Amino acid sequence: MNKIILTAAATAVLAAAAPAPALAQGELVFYCSAEENWCRTMSEAFQRETGVNVLMTRRSSGETFAQLMAEAGQPRGDVWWGGTGDPHLQAAQEGLTVEYRSPMLDELQDWAVRQAETSGFRTVGIYAGALGFGYNSDLVDENPPSCWADLLDERFRDDIQVANPNSSGTAYTMLATFVQLFGEDEAFAFMADLHANVSQYTQSGSAPIRAAATGETAIGIVFMHDAVAQAVQGAPIVTVAPCEGTGYEVGSMSLIEGGPNPDNARAFYDWALTAAAQELGAQANSFQVPSNRNAATPEQAPNLDQIRLIDYDFARFGSSEERSRLLARWDAEIGSAPR
Ligand code: F6P
Repeated sequence: MNKIILTAAATAVLAAAAPAPALAQGELVFYCSAEENWCRTMSEAFQRETGVNVLMTRRSSGETFAQLMAEAGQPRGDVWWGGTGDPHLQAAQEGLTVEYRSPMLDELQDWAVRQAETSGFRTVGIYAGALGFGYNSDLVDENPPSCWADLLDERFRDDIQVANPNSSGTAYTMLATFVQLFGEDEAFAFMADLHANVSQYTQSGSAPIRAAATGETAIGIVFMHDAVAQAVQGAPIVTVAPCEGTGYEVGSMSLIEGGPNPDNARAFYDWALTAAAQELGAQANSFQVPSNRNAATPEQAPNLDQIRLIDYDFARFGSSEERSRLLARWDAEIGSAPR
């Protein structure tokens, strides 16, 4: 009996001496599909501010969607933050994520709230960014490409990289963008021609521009902010907004249905929508446009108002039927085609 009383007293003394974080308990299993550096910055900041032990895994958007599907019988993750919006919408439709109306919704840009509405409030927009490409100006010094059509030029044979749209949200955004810009059959004909110039379909969406930065390839098809990130770090990368127009992403966040720590997951969700948390992106060398209206847009972020953006149909291209169908067609006609 005495021992129990002493132990309780000792615990009380220790608790009084310790700092008092807002939640100060438990864990958060954090699935992250933004750049590794930003994922780590977010985990560490949330852990520091709340005392919650954050267990982070970084995987590309399509891979994380596949992981959620695989774990549906026994969910392990609590929150999925970052990555393109289409697979988040598909996860919502598949019932893999939870409906939640954060009190922070009032502070968000219309496009971020529309993403929430499209999903029945099972996901929400956290940032936006336009698709484009970047080239290494040491390798391409004459007649640099400025349009999608320029990428078919045979001087770029084996000198372009883009990710695989099954694993990468960036590459799926490209596929959906071409379908919306050119019509579906023309888009597949375009990607079949492009295939001759593609040396590698990478797993992660930003890998192609990292390869261009080191001179391993001349051109990477990526989100423009990922090309800017390389230039900011001193790589000879020029960022291009293609002349025909381009698509964009609403990077998203979702709470995972049946996750082990739902209270911490909601606390993270609300926190991640604050202006202060969103401004951590620029510190981590990520230059998307934040969804909180009060968050400063990084000065390096491509100006979406000056880019010819298509009216991307998120409801259609984020639907399970359409995303699965287009990926199957890409596998059959492009991914498995001989080179
Ligand atoms: O953080 C970089 C980024 O381009 C995000 O803007 C985007 O949501 C994500 O990566 C997509 O990554 P992936 O193509 O690997 O799914």
